[in-house]
Amino acid sequence: MDVRVVDHPLAKARLSTMRDARTDNAAFRAALRDLTLMLIYEATRDAPLVSAPLHTPIARTIGYRLANPPLLVPVLRAGLGMVDAAQALMPEAQMGFVGLARNEATLKPTPYMESLPESLEGRPVFVLDPMLATGGSMAHTIRLLTDRGATDVTAICVLAAPEGIAHLEQSGLPVRVITSSVDERLNDSAYIVPGLGDAGDRQFGAV
Ligand code: URA
Repeated sequence: MDVRVVDHPLAKARLSTMRDARTDNAAFRAALRDLTLMLIYEATRDAPLVSAPLHTPIARTIGYRLANPPLLVPVLRAGLGMVDAAQALMPEAQMGFVGLARNEATLKPTPYMESLPESLEGRPVFVLDPMLATGGSMAHTIRLLTDRGATDVTAICVLAAPEGIAHLEQSGLPVRVITSSVDERLNDSAYIVPGLGDAGDRQFGAV
């Protein structure tokens, strides 16, 4: 499985803002948005283009656009904070949604909503979820996508735990991971260490 770590200095700086427990909700959301821009930029590095002639104010030249923009699928609720940046870079991208809550007793994902196109054959999909922890939520989401025919899935994650990467690797699901850090491990509550805490609470406040 392809795991790409974006360790650009600006990505490191934004990630540090997100990790810092003193960062308030608004600054956390701003740093997540900036970092998502960088992750999407890297995720689309090899995206195929189509070209067409255009006129600048000066001359005729060739212009480009994405040949097959990905479906963006934020995993609610933490993935919501990544949508704005992904849409800013790919305004033509369509959206799907998956809602998963973590059962705090079993630590397993409990689905509460899904809204996805019926067929995903031939469509790249970007799953937006800041935290790849156990990998359970991500694997569940990717199965929803592959059940609809997706074969080209990219997980866009701010942080990944080695346990989550191993889970995805063992699942054999067709996914590559773009992240800004592979952290040390999970703790007993399945939080990433050193991590950044609960990515939903850090964005929206604890509810
Ligand atoms: N989800 C989070 O929000 N944080 C973690 O550390 C793990 C899962």
